[in-house]
Amino acid sequence: MSTALQALAAEASTCTGCRLAAGRTTVVFGSGSPTADLMFVGEGPGAREDEQGVPFVGRSGQLLDRLLAEELDMDRSDCYIANVVKCRPPGNRDPRPDEIAACRPYLERQLDLVDPTVVVTLGNFSSKLLLGTDVGITKLRGQAYRFGDPERHLVPTFHPAAALRGGADVLARMRADLVRAWMLVEAG
Ligand code: URA
Repeated sequence: MSTALQALAAEASTCTGCRLAAGRTTVVFGSGSPTADLMFVGEGPGAREDEQGVPFVGRSGQLLDRLLAEELDMDRSDCYIANVVKCRPPGNRDPRPDEIAACRPYLERQLDLVDPTVVVTLGNFSSKLLLGTDVGITKLRGQAYRFGDPERHLVPTFHPAAALRGGADVLARMRADLVRAWMLVEAG
């Protein structure tokens, strides 16, 4: 991790900015290359992530790792992975608007510091947050957007948990979205 990301992770590790702090084991700040061109943003840690302090290490993460390897010949260490909220919502419930708002500055600073060319949002929460829309992921995905200042590419796709539930069709669309994201990375 870069020094600035490390400092931010240290700051987050003692965060009490919302009620999720009370139930967490670990703050799951983010992982991967601090200079990645490609950054993934999920929803929030689950039980495994809360135990280990690393995003996407449970079943969803294993699928993400597999898709990265199969579609992009990439390892998770080649990209950067973070979540909208850094602490596990109890019982894996959805993160609430005030929790998302409290955690947003960490995500914004991660984006500034990693400075990826392309952000892949995994599922509704990160896609809606970064695009500032109420449109759901099924309608949003299938194309790339520009977002933020400085402007970056954003490629929304399904959350891997949806692919685990949804089967071959969801998985095929996720694969296409990853390839779309990588083409934008290569285009610079
Ligand atoms: N789901 C997420 O959105 N993030 C994780 O880190 C794990 C599961």
